[in-house]
Amino acid sequence: MTGQPIPVIIDCDTGVDDALALLFAVHHPGLDLRAVTCVAGNTDVDGVVRNTLTVLEQAGAPDIPVARGAERPLIEPVRTAAHVHGQDGMGDLGLPAPTRVPLDVDAVTLLRREILASPRPVTLIPTAPLTNIALLLRTHPEVVRNIERIVFMGGAVATGNATPVAEFNVWHDPEAAAVLLTAGVPITMYGLDVFERVIVPAADVQRLRTSSEPSLRMAGELLAHRDPATSGDPTPTGGLGDAGAVCAVVDPGGITTAHLPVEVSLSPGPTRGQTIVDRRPRPGESEIHEGERELTFVDVALEVDVERYVKLWLSTVEQI
Ligand code: RIB
Ligand code: CA
Repeated sequence: MTGQPIPVIIDCDTGVDDALALLFAVHHPGLDLRAVTCVAGNTDVDGVVRNTLTVLEQAGAPDIPVARGAERPLIEPVRTAAHVHGQDGMGDLGLPAPTRVPLDVDAVTLLRREILASPRPVTLIPTAPLTNIALLLRTHPEVVRNIERIVFMGGAVATGNATPVAEFNVWHDPEAAAVLLTAGVPITMYGLDVFERVIVPAADVQRLRTSSEPSLRMAGELLAHRDPATSGDPTPTGGLGDAGAVCAVVDPGGITTAHLPVEVSLSPGPTRGQTIVDRRPRPGESEIHEGERELTFVDVALEVDVERYVKLWLSTVEQI
């Protein structure tokens, strides 16, 4: 870790794993979490705001500004993920309601304000559908002059989760993801190919669940949360999920990326929301016969040092 803390803003749909990301971002000394903005995704946007405020309070960071954003995607309806994150979006753990309310400005306004006010370029970390980010880029394109990089959790090179080929955040609002790719700033795609691999071992989960520190117990219960289909595991492991994207900001050496063309499939049907990552070594017949297409290059995470990020996340959240 060299120099001053990295100014970051997280745009989230808290969310079991968004909560793990927030907990890490609050506690890592190399990050300056300037703001958190909320968007509909895992649950409705008001549930996301409630959960985000709760997590920040539990993490001892009640003063970080939080703003409510888009309550639905640009085109699609809201399609939540209660089967993964529970009815309340936080694993139905019965966590206390927050004591404060979000700012009285919307997410796009807060994003613009905090990005332009930052003394050093901001790293934006979306861990949710990209609706707020698309609205920001279209409403206030001037913000890109003070954005260092966008490291987003979303997409997949290989296999999807929401569909056989589409990852939930991109699938939920494909048009917004397509707008993100036009941002004109460096973009890192932390997709399912690495997202799914960063798993906290059972012994560590159990240690957190039995901690005397409430926020660590919350982290342990979130890690242990399982969808009903696999609940009841006596010694559960737990996926870091979105928290891995924040680890990639703190320690980019923990992922292996390739600078590849990426586009989002917007057509109705089985590929809608797929992130099409072109890994071919050379153009093919489509380019030969139909000409080159305009390409957007993204730093796509292909590999992750699982042990390195698990150790980074645990050592950070347990240092409190
Ligand atoms: O596909 C996984 C992503 O969708 C994660 O960010 C999860 O929190 C949900 O938002
Ligand atoms: Ca998320």
